[in-house]
Amino acid sequence: MTKPIVLIAEELSPATIDALGPDFEIRNCDGANRDELLPALADVDAVLVRSATKMDAEAIAAAKNLKVIARAGVGLDNVDVPSATQAGVMVVNAPTSNITSAAELAVGLLLATARNIAPANEALKNGAWKRSKYGGVELLEKKVGVVGFGRIGQLVAERLKGFGMEVLAYDPYVSAQKAGQLGARLVPLDELLAESDFITVHLPKTPETLGLIGKEALGKVKPTVRIINAARGGIVDEEALAEALREGRVAGAGIDVFAKEPTTESPLFEFESVVVTPHLGASTEEAQEKAGVAVAKSVRLALGGDLVPDA
Ligand code: MLT
Repeated sequence: MTKPIVLIAEELSPATIDALGPDFEIRNCDGANRDELLPALADVDAVLVRSATKMDAEAIAAAKNLKVIARAGVGLDNVDVPSATQAGVMVVNAPTSNITSAAELAVGLLLATARNIAPANEALKNGAWKRSKYGGVELLEKKVGVVGFGRIGQLVAERLKGFGMEVLAYDPYVSAQKAGQLGARLVPLDELLAESDFITVHLPKTPETLGLIGKEALGKVKPTVRIINAARGGIVDEEALAEALREGRVAGAGIDVFAKEPTTESPLFEFESVVVTPHLGASTEEAQEKAGVAVAKSVRLALGGDLVPDA
């Protein structure tokens, strides 16, 4: 009997393969390379992706036998869910797999921007011992504005409260009471922008959130503010942020995600006060293992004709 075919289109934790077990034919391809992806999809039953593989209408149409698209991560923004639904293809993800890793990276970027860790590291390794140039600011008693107070935003807030920060939160879907229980003050976005010493974004990418922290929002912040985005590229407008940095209207930024990915170019790369990483929020051993195992289990259930429970 032939085994159902599972295509792994991005690098996933070895635990993913173990969790899939022996009942499938496993194939691999580079999902970011369309010339490889489209033919590789032709006869597969399931495809496993992270964020680099665009499972758009064209890719779904190329996969005549496809039953499941599994995204080993939180969001679904690289999967055309309506096209999948129309084609009768189930879409699953791992919504809690990497929330801790994403929150920890956001905190890391925030600390890096507060203390100039990245440029000081680079200068010292290049032979310059510059103590006065790389002075920073403390977090204690500073205000952090958390834009998007869902699972990741809440974990970030919990961690930053440990540093003695005051947490302001903006989220139209969270009540003031719930935010209060978590030690945050729910405020309108304009108030958060005007009052925060640090702003960290934890929103999904949607037509409403795209460019939310753009020219207009950046016109309302303190010139000492530092902005963190470890959520999705494009929510913080890179051009508008670069302009604000150039004009001294923003003090620094920590950016893990970009409007176009992968990329080696951004207007933000020219600033020493900006620390950047290549979409590493979910890139820890633990998160990758959790994500891989979760989606492997969903694929097993779906291809076995069983109900896939909500994660
Ligand atoms: C996520 O959505 O969970 C991550 O962006 C996944 C990834 O890093 O590929």
